[in-house]
Amino acid sequence: MIKEEIKKLISQMTLEEKASLCSGATDWLTQKIERLGIPSMRMADGPHGVNKHSGLTDIFGGAITNPTVCFPAECTSAASFDRNVLRKIGETMGNIAQAEGVNVLLGPGVNIKRSPLCGRNFEYLSEDPLLAGELGAAYIEGIQSQGVGACVKHFLANNQETLRLTSSSEVSDRALREIYMPAFETIVKKARPWSVMASYNKINGKYATENRTYMTDVLRKEWGFDGFVVSDWGATHNRVAAVAAGTDLTMPAEKETDAEIVEAIREGKMPEFLLDIACENLLSIVFHAANNSQVNVEKDFDAAHEVARESVEQSAVLLKNEDSIIPLKSTSQIAFIGTFAKAPRYQGGGSSTVNAERTTNAFDAVKGITEVTYCPGYDGDEPNMVLIEEAVEAAKAVDVAILFIGLPNNMESEGIDRKHICLPNSHNALVEAVTSVQKNTVVVLHNGSPVAMPWTDQVKGILEMYLGGQAVGEATVNLLFGKVNPSGRLPESFPKRLEDTSAFLSYLDAGSKAYYQEGVYVGYRYYETKKVDMLYPFGYGLSYTEFSYSNLKLDKKVISPGNILKVSLDVTNTGSMAGKEVVQLYVAVKNCEVYSPAKELRGFDKIELEPGQTKTVCFELDKRAFSYWNEDAKQFHMPGGIYEIQIGKSSHDVILSQEIHANGEYLEQEQSFSLMTSIGDFVKHPIGKIFMDEYLDAICEGVIRSGIAGSVTGEKMDVAQVRGMITGIYSQPLAILKTFLPRLHVNDWTKLINQLNDK
Ligand code: BGC
Repeated sequence: MIKEEIKKLISQMTLEEKASLCSGATDWLTQKIERLGIPSMRMADGPHGVNKHSGLTDIFGGAITNPTVCFPAECTSAASFDRNVLRKIGETMGNIAQAEGVNVLLGPGVNIKRSPLCGRNFEYLSEDPLLAGELGAAYIEGIQSQGVGACVKHFLANNQETLRLTSSSEVSDRALREIYMPAFETIVKKARPWSVMASYNKINGKYATENRTYMTDVLRKEWGFDGFVVSDWGATHNRVAAVAAGTDLTMPAEKETDAEIVEAIREGKMPEFLLDIACENLLSIVFHAANNSQVNVEKDFDAAHEVARESVEQSAVLLKNEDSIIPLKSTSQIAFIGTFAKAPRYQGGGSSTVNAERTTNAFDAVKGITEVTYCPGYDGDEPNMVLIEEAVEAAKAVDVAILFIGLPNNMESEGIDRKHICLPNSHNALVEAVTSVQKNTVVVLHNGSPVAMPWTDQVKGILEMYLGGQAVGEATVNLLFGKVNPSGRLPESFPKRLEDTSAFLSYLDAGSKAYYQEGVYVGYRYYETKKVDMLYPFGYGLSYTEFSYSNLKLDKKVISPGNILKVSLDVTNTGSMAGKEVVQLYVAVKNCEVYSPAKELRGFDKIELEPGQTKTVCFELDKRAFSYWNEDAKQFHMPGGIYEIQIGKSSHDVILSQEIHANGEYLEQEQSFSLMTSIGDFVKHPIGKIFMDEYLDAICEGVIRSGIAGSVTGEKMDVAQVRGMITGIYSQPLAILKTFLPRLHVNDWTKLINQLNDK
């Protein structure tokens, strides 16, 4: 339906009907208005499966959802670093949603992993906004290609579960713009999601659902969002304020508060046009959904299961492989130890939990390849010495022990943050005991976020499967036996200790305010800047083959704001097995007047190479890759400086690099100049720059004359030496130049200031 027709329809609606449209009819349906032919629209949770409620409840009163395919959780699929993997999952989920009569899928979640403690990290993609944005966009393109909408969530700065309904995220504009907003921005601009979910929390004191700055000004006016904003379930506290802010739909049903909107309009407290806008935003998608909904769509769970398997195979991260302990040989004597070998943890807890139509486990999946011995190893969080003894005996009797361990459900879930990053004692004790008798030990991990691994030196192999979805068992076996070559990379840094994380001092202090004191220093941006040792860095992951990088080319030596920098390099598979490599491009700061993270991911690509094959990988970087958010000017600003283009195998392992100079961009700020303006700000103005070029030598002579430029030996410096150190006075006010430039008259200074102020 076109805009005009929708407007006409709205003009025929009563105030009551309009208000009722803006809250759900049920937990999952929007309000229909039969009189005007307005249908309802069905929503269902994602992000890693189509969680359609069957309408039935179990004996505890819990909702039963229809059996469906459980894809890898987002923590896992993000590790693929592969847009195609995410797109394919999205497409397949979109198809299932169509078959289920679901119009909008509530996902993906693209909140930034601020701390590994966040209980919902398994539902989010990354600590890096570029990765989260690119993968989230691909996911949404996939879902929406099937005529089903995606609802990207949870907007904005929703990075903890503690006090999740009430806490206020106290965060700087710079951190919001550089860290917490760009994934949403990329998604809105690239993938045009049908919906955005306003989060539970407040942002700097104002509930997201009532925050017009973000829900309207940024989302719609700046980024061009043209779908509807829905509140997280129960996140609306004031219906009138929500509508006024741009939260078009409150979910779930809140019929008792519809009258508040009617009353506010009747009493002149809110103009009616704001309600009309909300209706228009919602109806444009309701009718779009109705037009795109198809009948008799077949869902093919067998095919979808294969997609789930391939996705987790492309996402598993090989963290350690000493002596090439894996791939395993089918002729070896092998023990699978740990209950996760028979009952893997394959998804997280909370609204995303789906009723998997089948699950596979490694113990069953390995049967086609070889026979393994099995023992459970643990039965709870605390060590069971009988089970550990049994495991030790089993491990002694074989060539290789594979330990299946990780985080149980009770340690990681929506609604609860972790307090530590340790595995259960029983799992760590099992590793200790087994490795004391069996040096060929490999750990397979099932967890939704980073864990400390005090035993890394004692094991030969570590395979991070994250929460791999229903096909995780087969995938694990395919990876362990080399049918598939691991190619996942960590989408988040693994710290050695919780104390090493940048939010450690302020995360979860349980007050009503969450202070984002670390600013933009989140994840690797912190570790790399502060030079903190990590267990495994962001972007890290091994392969069964080797890759070499060469021939890094930059198409220019200097980049200016309007330019595009083209970067290319060659990657060769130098090993003997086909494999996939993730090529990562970081822009690192060498010298820049604005303090910024040491490096930031600005490009990535995943390529497949046969043994001996070489491919050229290309990237294009624009101004944004060299910019920071200038809080005074309220815009991204490219400061001048010297940078390095780094091609790395992780944030920490740089293979190729080349320097690039950036020409700074002059910001027409509303700055008023005076003699108390800093010399640094003065030289950013074109007139200031010319002035300094003109008078630099005279200033240096003045500095020498004043006697402040002495060397350690007591000898006077010469002009050339002082010139090299001149930026040392940039934080001083312009007034000090008066002393160094006696030949300038007071009128000259007044004239200069007037010119700067454009008078
Ligand atoms: C969650 C959302 C979810 C919604 C509906 C909320 O509690 O935060 O992510 O989509 O419930 O289940």
